[in-house]
Amino acid sequence: MPVAGTTALDVVDQLALPRGARLLVNGIGGGVGLALAQLARAGGLEVVGTAGGAKRDVVAGTGATFVDHRTPGVVDRLRGFAPDGFDGVVDLVGGASLRAVAPLAAAPRAVVSVGDPTVGEVGGVGVARRTDRRTLERVAALMVQGVLDPHVTAVYPFEQAARALARVEDGHATGKTVLDLSARGQ
Ligand SMILES: NC(=O)c1ccc[n+]([C@@H]2O[C@H](COP(=O)([O-])OP(=O)(O)OC[C@H]3O[C@@H](n4cnc5c(N)ncnc54)[C@H](OP(=O)(O)O)[C@@H]3O)[C@@H](O)[C@H]2O)c1
Repeated sequence: MPVAGTTALDVVDQLALPRGARLLVNGIGGGVGLALAQLARAGGLEVVGTAGGAKRDVVAGTGATFVDHRTPGVVDRLRGFAPDGFDGVVDLVGGASLRAVAPLAAAPRAVVSVGDPTVGEVGGVGVARRTDRRTLERVAALMVQGVLDPHVTAVYPFEQAARALARVEDGHATGKTVLDLSARGQ
């Protein structure tokens, strides 16, 4: 959460969308995406997000509308949720996927990428990170208040650190993966 949670908070503050605005989150099922979904919903935004089919329930549980990114015609389906364009488009995937969803924004500057430094080529911007204590404390407070659930979906003992990292690095993690140092030697 020091990384995923604060990144999500940075995105929400950067977009500064009013209640009722429509937000598209491309790659909503991972660590940053689920945190962003919860913060955006708490701010009164209408959220549509793409993820793999296994993430349908966890995404819907945040109050966001789930769209399976592996189904044909996904861009047309997304356009149907905001025919005049989304007020904000946050991309957590990058590459061809970013280029496919960027035109769904009402304005190019409304595209924010968290992982792809080429976002400027589609007129968008990268997230402006604030790696400061105040942002970290805000995330901690939101978790204590129950607004932000980290969605821990796997816990590994220290001896299985390599497996834990491989799970995160495969690019299809759901929520957060925990490495439990207290379980060392058990
Ligand atoms: N700039 C920064 O400070 C900063 C901070 C944090 C993270 N990041 C970057 O932001 C990105 C996301 O981070 P994360 O922690 O959320 O990663 P993550 O936990 O690995 O989640 C990525 C999610 O995207 C989904 N996905 C993959 N391909 C997709 C596609 N074509 N369409 C829609 N969803 C797709 C994945 O699984 P499914 O395909 O199964 O849904 C997964 O749920 C990473 O590239 C990370 O390096 C940058």
